[in-house]
Amino acid sequence: KEAILETLKNAVKSYPDFPIPGVIFRDLFSVLADPQLFPLLKKCLIEEVKAINPPVECVVSLDARGFLLGPIIALELGIPFIPIRKKGKLPGKVRSYDYTIEYGQSTVEIQENSVKPGQKVLVVDDLLATGGTLDAACKLIKQEGGDVVSCLVVMELNDLKGREKISANVISLLQF
Ligand code: PRP
Ligand code: HPA
Repeated sequence: KEAILETLKNAVKSYPDFPIPGVIFRDLFSVLADPQLFPLLKKCLIEEVKAINPPVECVVSLDARGFLLGPIIALELGIPFIPIRKKGKLPGKVRSYDYTIEYGQSTVEIQENSVKPGQKVLVVDDLLATGGTLDAACKLIKQEGGDVVSCLVVMELNDLKGREKISANVISLLQF
């Protein structure tokens, strides 16, 4: 297990000064591009999710890179997949949440009545940086009556202390 995680971590390509000077961008696509490693990543994610207690009943993930991971987990567990998207992308009645990102404001939305009251929810994304995005997701789900049992990310940027912003349990596979 440790060896697999080390292999996955080494396969995450790092890009200094992207998208802005001073940031080291950790790119999960270099793992997904490797047909040996993508299934290993899937296996690790499923293992983590199956260990969550109480068992989760629904997977919510985030536009855009969370959508690469959430549906895989939902399919494997046979539970619903629900999207949270950036403003203006989801049809029908939506609930919105505004939050602050590094430079300015962002808004995310969930469709009303997508998560059911009392449902035990897992939130999935590729990466935890400042935690603003995951925190916004948790708030939207709670406002819909859902119960966020855990948040699962592949990569966590330790220095940014994003997990301190999240009221739910946070699981990360790889730490940077
Ligand atoms: C990235 C990443 C997370 C979020 C983490 O998405 O995929 O969703 O930022 O940052 P935070 O913890 O500081 O909120 P981005 O907003 O770049 O969107 P994208 O997936 O559409 O590229
Ligand atoms: N990689 C991918 N997405 C991100 C990063 C990163 O390093 N930082 C903030 N969002």
